[in-house]
Amino acid sequence: MSEQKKLTTASGIPYFEHENSMTAGPRGPILLQDFILHEKMAHFNRERIPERVVHAKGSGAYGTFTVTHDIAAFTKAKIFDTIGKQTRVFVRFSTVGGEKGSADSERDPRGFAVKFYTEEGNWDLVGNNTPIFFIKDPKKFSDFIHTQKRDPRTNTKSATMVWDFWSLNPESLHQVLILMSDRGTPISYRHMHGFGSHTFSFLNKDNERFYVKFHFITEQGIKNFTNEEAAEMRGKDPDQAQRDLVESIDKGDFPRWKLKVQIMPEADAKTYRWNPFDLTKVWPHADYPLIDVGVMELNENPDNYFAHVEQAAFAPAHVVDGIGYSPDKMLQGRLLSYPDAHRYRLGVNYEQIPVNRCPFAVNNYHRDGAMRVDGNGGSHPNYFPNSFGNIAPDPAYKEPGMPLDSLFADWYDRNADGENDHYTQPGNLFRLMTAEEKKKTISNIVGAMSGIEGHKREEIINRQLCHWFRADLQLGMGIAQGLGVSVDAMATH
Ligand code: HEM
Repeated sequence: MSEQKKLTTASGIPYFEHENSMTAGPRGPILLQDFILHEKMAHFNRERIPERVVHAKGSGAYGTFTVTHDIAAFTKAKIFDTIGKQTRVFVRFSTVGGEKGSADSERDPRGFAVKFYTEEGNWDLVGNNTPIFFIKDPKKFSDFIHTQKRDPRTNTKSATMVWDFWSLNPESLHQVLILMSDRGTPISYRHMHGFGSHTFSFLNKDNERFYVKFHFITEQGIKNFTNEEAAEMRGKDPDQAQRDLVESIDKGDFPRWKLKVQIMPEADAKTYRWNPFDLTKVWPHADYPLIDVGVMELNENPDNYFAHVEQAAFAPAHVVDGIGYSPDKMLQGRLLSYPDAHRYRLGVNYEQIPVNRCPFAVNNYHRDGAMRVDGNGGSHPNYFPNSFGNIAPDPAYKEPGMPLDSLFADWYDRNADGENDHYTQPGNLFRLMTAEEKKKTISNIVGAMSGIEGHKREEIINRQLCHWFRADLQLGMGIAQGLGVSVDAMATH
């Protein structure tokens, strides 16, 4: 047993009376001077911090990323510079729409956020278990998320809101199809792939730019719940995915993913048949095959959930030298949103919390702010330029400029100019499914759309059915039949 320690107040004062409050006589009222009672109650009242506005329910673990292949031709990022090189990581998995106490087996995309503690700063790859997303402009994010949360009056989840939004935003169809397949209910966080989803840049030592998509391929294999199994698990063990991750790591069964990339030379971006910066589209592997990079293993459970998992803060803006952004509008929106969310949820000095802190060097002129606990730069100068300090910007880290397509600032319709094909890719995905997968996906969609209610029910169903039909005739027919909608009647609308 470890050395016995004295119980103390938060200010370190040893004390004895931990269970009985000080009272005037054994049955009398409590005295104001029992400040330990105040301290206990006051601290308890402040235990909760705001939950994440999305991805509130999650699980996390530490591990290692090991380079297995040489990709120096594409990127100078130091994390990839030597085969065999290991970098510590922290990964947080999550569901998206539910609250912090919601069930792990909800039908939802799964967050797949990785923090690589590289020698040149922390690189956050904040992705999902899907290569695409529901929308292609960040201005639509809050509207979309409102439909995934609770109805403002009934305070319940609403299939009507969900399908109203999706049916009015056909760009969501591809992601909705994935969500409605059994991939929408993975059996655990270990049995799913992860994707950076956005297009990022790689820059090599000659500052040549390549566009890149990141893929984590599970070595545990893809395993999903059926709709019925997921529903049953929600009641049986709402924390089943959390339990699964902790238990498998505790018993030494460490989950692993292969990191692979798709690489697009910069010049291809102009001529490729899909807009490579549209987050509702994949780059088919036949066009840009997967290239091996390394392997990620999770092998260490954090010893305290709140300290590590709840306080973890990831930001797509945090890329390291050799990795850059792209004009993907969704990525651009996320660059701003996450640090803003962290400053609200955790405070301005959130980067000092151990799980978020860069274990190598942090040198800058940021000072002060709530919960500044790292010495605050001591007596070193707090301004730049100065004649006294030794922190200076290094021109070696200058990123080359990015050419723009146009000099006209405007609100361009995201679906104009041939960008309105919302159907080919989901149709192709459906046609790739086995007969069994098709059947289950159709049944899941029918189940989900059956929840649409109210006087707009028929209108919403018909509008959404048209999208399914445009993706694939068999898909549309299957859903229409399941919902009991006569296709002839639809045509007359
Ligand atoms: C414009 C679109 C988006 C906005 C504005 C947005 C915003 C946010 C915000 C505010 C959070 C909470 C952060 C926190 O409090 O720690 C969050 C979490 C998260 N988002 Fe997004 N998001 C967007 C799109 C996406 C996309 C496309 C993906 C995946 C490809 C994604 C993956 C995640 C993940 C994995 C988390 C949880 C990170 C964690 O585990 O702490 N988000 N998002």
